[in-house]
Amino acid sequence: MCSIIGYLGLNEAAPIIVKGLKRMEYRGYDSVGVATFSNDQIMVRKGVGRVIEVNKTVKLEELSGNVGIGHTRWATHGMVTDTNAHPHPSSTGEVAIVHNGIIENHEELKNDLQKNGYSFRSQTDSEVIANLLQYHYDKTRNIKQAIVDTVAVLKGDYAFVAVFEDGTLAAARFHEPLIIGIGKKGYFISSDVLGFVEHADDVIYLDNKEFVIIRPSGIQIFDFEANPVQHQITKVSKEFADVYKGEYAHFTLKEISEQPLTIPKSGDNTKLELDLAADFIRHAKAVYITGSGTSYNSALVAKFLFAKYAKIKIEPIISSEAHFSPDVFEQQSILVALSQSGESADVLEAVKIAQNSGAKIISIVNIMTSSLAQMSSIAVGLGCGPEIGVAATKSFTSQLAILYKIVEKICGGCMGLDLSEVAETVRKELSDDSKSKIKEIAKRLKNVSDIYILGRGIHYPIALESSLKLKELTYIHAEGLPGGELKHGPLALMDSNTHVIMINPDDSTYSDTLTSAREIKARGAKVIGISDKPSDVYDYWIELPRIEESMYPFVEIIPIQLLAYYAAVEKDTDPDYPRNLAKSVTVK
Ligand code: F6R
Repeated sequence: MCSIIGYLGLNEAAPIIVKGLKRMEYRGYDSVGVATFSNDQIMVRKGVGRVIEVNKTVKLEELSGNVGIGHTRWATHGMVTDTNAHPHPSSTGEVAIVHNGIIENHEELKNDLQKNGYSFRSQTDSEVIANLLQYHYDKTRNIKQAIVDTVAVLKGDYAFVAVFEDGTLAAARFHEPLIIGIGKKGYFISSDVLGFVEHADDVIYLDNKEFVIIRPSGIQIFDFEANPVQHQITKVSKEFADVYKGEYAHFTLKEISEQPLTIPKSGDNTKLELDLAADFIRHAKAVYITGSGTSYNSALVAKFLFAKYAKIKIEPIISSEAHFSPDVFEQQSILVALSQSGESADVLEAVKIAQNSGAKIISIVNIMTSSLAQMSSIAVGLGCGPEIGVAATKSFTSQLAILYKIVEKICGGCMGLDLSEVAETVRKELSDDSKSKIKEIAKRLKNVSDIYILGRGIHYPIALESSLKLKELTYIHAEGLPGGELKHGPLALMDSNTHVIMINPDDSTYSDTLTSAREIKARGAKVIGISDKPSDVYDYWIELPRIEESMYPFVEIIPIQLLAYYAAVEKDTDPDYPRNLAKSVTVK
């Protein structure tokens, strides 16, 4: 989703900002822009497209000045156009801003500002911040006061960075992330540490309802009531710097390939929290689990695991639905919140609703500095390193690994969990030989318009996760179904143009799923079997390596991740940055 960055220092700002924006590309965006301050004026360049393309056409990097702001936009209000791209200057051009989030009362504010003579160029909600800052600045010529007066009337969740006509940089945070970086040659402010990680490892995490004013003489932080705030400087983890693709063609393939290493390490940096999480869940009156997208699919796997092995009922709630059933949470209950980014607005809202009902929060999260981690009683870290590809891959298996570890602790080792064995099995699935077989099948999906993925029991959430991966990466319509539901409707869709993937490991679901495969085949559809047992019913067979029954979910998802990735490459879509999607969905 939108990324924002600001720089003030000894170097030229624009090249640093452009590089920072490139690093944050994984968050998802459709347009890009930079503004710098030089020779007493603010200059803006922006356009629709990738950072590299817009930079080529409008020469973002060539803007001069040691102070600047930059933005990648993911459109919410207004079409994807050059004018709607950020930065937005105020109507007099004395202030320019970049913004992440949504200003809910923008129409009302815009009307008032227009009556006061301020004009607007874009269709965005964001431009109102520029003119509002200008309006208040015009009254007092005092930047601090202008910010206090501006945030007092803004409604919605937002983070913005502004550059003023005297070269001052300022930024405010309200429920959207904002991090200050302090480097040897300047100050940074960004929605993501990746924006400046190679220049600064000393950081300050702004809290909600705080703003910062950055000048060459130093930084000052205030709360929204204008009181000064003291903050500790913390060190950012160096692993964030390691975000290059290396030998891989795409981040997505790199991240899929990292799983033999990331699975066994999951949660290792927060072992104490993991023990505490198991203890909290064991003693809770009721346990709920929430997440969005892939994280919700992990929650569904957890439901099966906890019931079967820990003998604990745990209720999955889709985060975006929590708002519509706020009464489900009981007192003294636990909500386990799953999120790679820790910034998904839907997940944060579900957490707030549960907290209002007296629930305690355990989060399982990759970004330990995220809003979710900060809101939780216990935060368990995935520890799988930065996930840049928009589609979740290694974070999914790390979520599973942590959930398995918790269940194993509660049930006293009843599963005989051995994640190194899982990792070794996954490594085999990633061998060149396995990959080339999957590549061949991927070629056949190129012109397919519908894929159904069937699984029963614990394999049903894997079918859902598989359909999500196929949709995101290949843009093919894909639907995950519980195998038994086929005859209750979807069988009507089966014909020779349909492809069906059967997740069919050799366990108690095997023979029922094989029967479904025969019913499908009889209607002319092509069947892809993912199984450790061959069958003549499969048109294509992806062989699952043998593994302990409870561990199947790990090994089932790997070939699908590869299949979706290779089909995307076949179709010439960009697997790392699927259209219309953002890595961190910070709006509702
Ligand atoms: C799927 C995907 C999304 C995310 C969802 C939640 O590949 O990436 O569906 O899983 O947006 O994101 P987090 O886990 O960051 O809360």
